[in-house]
Amino acid sequence: MQKKVIVFSQIDAEVLQKLQAQYQVVVINPKIGDVNEQIQREVVDADGMIGAGRLLNEKNLATVQKLKIISSVSVGYDNYDVAYLNQKNIWLANTPHVLTETTADLAFTLLMSAARKVPSLDQWTKQGEWKRTVGTAEFGQDIFGKTLGIIGLGHIGEAIARRGFHGFNMNILYHNRREKLELAQPLNAQYRSLKDLLQQSDFVIVAVDLNAASKALINAEAFNLMQKHAVFVNISRGSVVDEQALIEALQQRKIFAAGLDVYQREPLQDSALFSLDNVVTLPHVGSATAETRQKMSNLAYQNLVDALEDRVPRYLVNEKFSVVY
Ligand code: DGY
Repeated sequence: MQKKVIVFSQIDAEVLQKLQAQYQVVVINPKIGDVNEQIQREVVDADGMIGAGRLLNEKNLATVQKLKIISSVSVGYDNYDVAYLNQKNIWLANTPHVLTETTADLAFTLLMSAARKVPSLDQWTKQGEWKRTVGTAEFGQDIFGKTLGIIGLGHIGEAIARRGFHGFNMNILYHNRREKLELAQPLNAQYRSLKDLLQQSDFVIVAVDLNAASKALINAEAFNLMQKHAVFVNISRGSVVDEQALIEALQQRKIFAAGLDVYQREPLQDSALFSLDNVVTLPHVGSATAETRQKMSNLAYQNLVDALEDRVPRYLVNEKFSVVY
């Protein structure tokens, strides 16, 4: 009998075609009704699931019987209840590495846009405000040679540090659960406590995973520690930051600016951030280039097919199964 696969978000068209040629495919479609109800109904006899950006947990997976794998088209897996998946012996696979450089590029895009006020100056120019030479209100912050503090020196954090060190002659500080001498040494990156990093950095970039320890890690106290000229960038997950505290820090000019790709609630709607001229807001596009999204889709496809054909997928998230990377 053909195996059944649930596609729970929009995925790459070629991958969808390949899946349809191999399996019985059900695509969850928000236009035809409640997504969670569709998932609950379809998951009863499903063998695999693929997609991204959807909360999958005990509530909507309560009816699973033989589900073997959820293949996420993302590196982050905070949307999935891993403890429940472990309990049900369901593999969770993700797509690390292929998006590292692309996401680091976006971190720098945000850093530079926020530091040099790119979006507001773009609007200013287009609205015909350029009637005189620019004044102090249009001035930004220098980047070259400044101090860059990176919270989370994982793959993406290290790729950001490389850009700062080699491209912009920056002094690199990092904070991490443990020191990473092998990554830090070639970049002359210095380990700091979170407090020292926040106080000493001109630019602060958050690149940690979202977990119990990192939830609201950057709160009002953290913004109070940052320098008045500091630029804050978040490319990890919105819930790592207390968003209300960030809004207040920006409103009260406790920091110079912020560049954000992620938010506590996505898609971001009706936010106080929209009325601020010192924040750059992007719609969670860290990995969103054509090349990288293709690579992520292919990897997620491979993880899914491996599991359905009784091979252990390369990139398993569940700690209870041995992870090979
Ligand atoms: C990821 O892969 O986790 C990125 O945030 C893109 O969704």
